[in-house]
Amino acid sequence: MTLQTTILPDNKLGVRAASITLHVTFLVAFPTETVYGLGADACNDRAVASIFEAKNRPTFNPLIVHVADLAAAEKLAEFDTTARALAAQFWPGPLTLVLPRLDSRLSHLATAGLDTVALRVPAHPLAQALLREFRGPIAAPSANPSGRVSPTTCAHVLDGLSGRISAVLDGGPTTVGIESTIVGFEQGAPVLLRPGGLPVETIEAALGRPLGVSAAGHVSAAGQLASHYAPAATLRLDMAGPAPDEVWLGFGPIATLRPGLNLSPTGDLTEAAANLFAHLRRIDAIAADAGLSRIAVAPIPEIGLGRAINDRLRRAAAPRG
Ligand code: TXA
Ligand code: MG
Repeated sequence: MTLQTTILPDNKLGVRAASITLHVTFLVAFPTETVYGLGADACNDRAVASIFEAKNRPTFNPLIVHVADLAAAEKLAEFDTTARALAAQFWPGPLTLVLPRLDSRLSHLATAGLDTVALRVPAHPLAQALLREFRGPIAAPSANPSGRVSPTTCAHVLDGLSGRISAVLDGGPTTVGIESTIVGFEQGAPVLLRPGGLPVETIEAALGRPLGVSAAGHVSAAGQLASHYAPAATLRLDMAGPAPDEVWLGFGPIATLRPGLNLSPTGDLTEAAANLFAHLRRIDAIAADAGLSRIAVAPIPEIGLGRAINDRLRRAAAPRG
């Protein structure tokens, strides 16, 4: 579907229009001090699914969730003393903290089914104004098609995503120009997950000790941990229907009397992507209630978001080590 992408001005009306657009679950690109982000309501699975669709992302990487301040962040994640000290010192700013997720309305697709959430308080005045007007967390990866470089101007955003998103809030060129530095915690110690706009030396000076190196390796591995979204029950993929000893994870209008869930009764891949992680979490309980330990999954077309859905389903179905 081709949209008319509106350029919204750097003023009160522009911010209000951007916020309303987000509330009706459409996508709005907005400037942060690092790069332009492609924003969606972080509490709405469907809105978050649209991000992956607009970017043409083949996999569901976890996204950075943007909030207005530390108080808003503390509603979404658990901060220990070190995390709170880093936040107090460097927020707002180009630092993202990966922390244990608290139980909240945050979309499980935004965190790719992980038990952690990447949080950031951007310093850009327009990003701040938008977060305060919207009054909720905004999920935003860089506003570029998958595989292209991150945008630092409104024109860059339009170049890659014009016709695929509802609006861009034009704040001129960004100041930092490279993505935020990402810090996670392993055994309670802060580790560098991605170098970025906040120098490592500055963080280390604040900590009074060196940042650790992630045992998990590169940050891109984070969303690839199958165990986080694998249900307890065994999955069989590409099934025409469920066997008598299986619950059913459907897609499209396939009628079955078996207990189960449908990713999208109308066969809409955006809806299916929005439902995927939440359904994988819920179907275990349905299987347990029915006294069954196997899940048959309907075929999902290997196109668009279907590739990402199949990628995650294959990981969930893979033999566990
Ligand atoms: O400056 C930035 O960080 C920009 C602006 C828009 O805020 N955003 C950005 O987002 O660069 P993105 O999606 O391009 O990169 C986010 C990175 C990914 O590499 C992802 O794997 C990692 O953050 N990430 C997100 N959640 C994570 C988590 N729970 N655990 C580990 N890594 C995570
Ligand atoms: Mg990016």
